[in-house]
Amino acid sequence: MGGGEKPQLIINGKRLDGRASDELRPLKIEVGAVKNAVGSAYIEWGNNKILAAVYGPKEALPKHVQDPEKAIIKCRYQMSPFSSLEDHGRTGPNRRSTEISKVTKEVFQNVMLLEQFPGAEMDLYIDVLQADGGTRAAGITAAAVAFAASGIPMTDIPFAVSVGKVGDELILDMNKIEDNYSDADMPVAISPRTGDILLLQMDGNMTKEEVRRGLEMIKKAGETISKVQREALRAPYEKTLDKYKK
Ligand code: CDP
Repeated sequence: MGGGEKPQLIINGKRLDGRASDELRPLKIEVGAVKNAVGSAYIEWGNNKILAAVYGPKEALPKHVQDPEKAIIKCRYQMSPFSSLEDHGRTGPNRRSTEISKVTKEVFQNVMLLEQFPGAEMDLYIDVLQADGGTRAAGITAAAVAFAASGIPMTDIPFAVSVGKVGDELILDMNKIEDNYSDADMPVAISPRTGDILLLQMDGNMTKEEVRRGLEMIKKAGETISKVQREALRAPYEKTLDKYKK
């Protein structure tokens, strides 16, 4: 949500980039972009470009952070200095990146089988190379693929997307201009197998009915997002199979 002259975000039922209210931006995911990582994924979602890389499990350090019962997850989300027109020149974490790192970690604490690795840590890095609204959702969606590609046992491959409100209309997967001038933004992460909500944040206000409708839009979009995630995970194996077929 932003100040200034408010542009009209929906004209004749179409959004500024031509999308319908329940339409996702183009989504592409590629596995294995970071060779040294145990698992990695690169996502292009609209104009967002994000890398997610997973390391570990390895001994958690310093020792006092270890949990003798299970592994811990460390997550560091950050925007590169050149990721948007806003100023990112200052290095190091800020309040927003600390918050996004925390909520992202909590998503994965609910799907990774942490008890299998007592005393260990798993490190998740999410680096936003280009930002255009919805980077936390895109980062979580990419990180889920990176974790799945790492082979670390997990119960499901979560996805995330946000739904926003413009006047009385709900719009799926807002870009930055929509995010700036919308009346509300609700990013959500879901475990598609169980339907469990792993993240739900709200900036602005929605009625109970709008939240219900928004969650329905998100679940529906999840079918498409999950499919892209699974195809990305299959792609390297299919390439290898193709080689043998020739
Ligand atoms: O990215 P997400 O929507 O999860 O987070 P946000 O805090 O709602 O930010 C919305 C968008 O504003 C981001 O995706 C960026 O495009 C932009 N932004 C930025 O460029 N620099 C910041 N420090 C914060 C936000």
